[in-house]
Amino acid sequence: MIETKIKSTVRDVIDFPKPGIVFKDITPILKDPALCINITRELAEQLKGIEIDVVAGIESRGFLFGPALAQLLNVPFVPIRKVGKLPYKTVQQSYDLEYGKATIEVHEDALLKGQKVLIHDDLLATGGTVVAASKLIMQLGAEVTGYSFIIALDFLKGRLRLEPYTKQIFSLASY
Ligand code: PRP
Ligand code: ADE
Repeated sequence: MIETKIKSTVRDVIDFPKPGIVFKDITPILKDPALCINITRELAEQLKGIEIDVVAGIESRGFLFGPALAQLLNVPFVPIRKVGKLPYKTVQQSYDLEYGKATIEVHEDALLKGQKVLIHDDLLATGGTVVAASKLIMQLGAEVTGYSFIIALDFLKGRLRLEPYTKQIFSLASY
């Protein structure tokens, strides 16, 4: 089962980046190409029946599987980046996450009005990051049609913050 394999591969790093945080380090997954292919396939499998025009991934760990997922679904990939990295005109959102604050942005012409966007990230913690990403997508007149994560930290209740946008929330391994 993919959840067992993910959990046995991910490494817990205690007190990173701050005391009290148990950081889920997914870099060991990247050393296992067969697991990477399986993860991408299983992410796509969960999304069957959901209308998706675009996959949007969030810098940086959302860029590890997001483009491969978009290619498997045969749709474009849109990068949502940390502030100051995108070269063209952008819209921005600031937010709090499990261990800090950040600002993300997207090119103002990245999406067409009415496009159905799947947001992908490696991990759902408090939900602050993907709520900010959802606001960016809506600012551009597009629609959030689903959320896809490899890992969800259910004890932080991020899912509750996403449900007002869509109840189509998927993950492969939860804690
Ligand atoms: C991590 C993770 C998610 C976010 C989840 O990103 O990749 O994007 O935190 O936390 P939240 O649900 O509490 O918002 P981080 O900002 O650490 O950046 P990185 O991907 O560049 O490591
Ligand atoms: N992003 C937010 N919380 C995290 C955690 N506990 N591990 C890895 N990435 C995270």
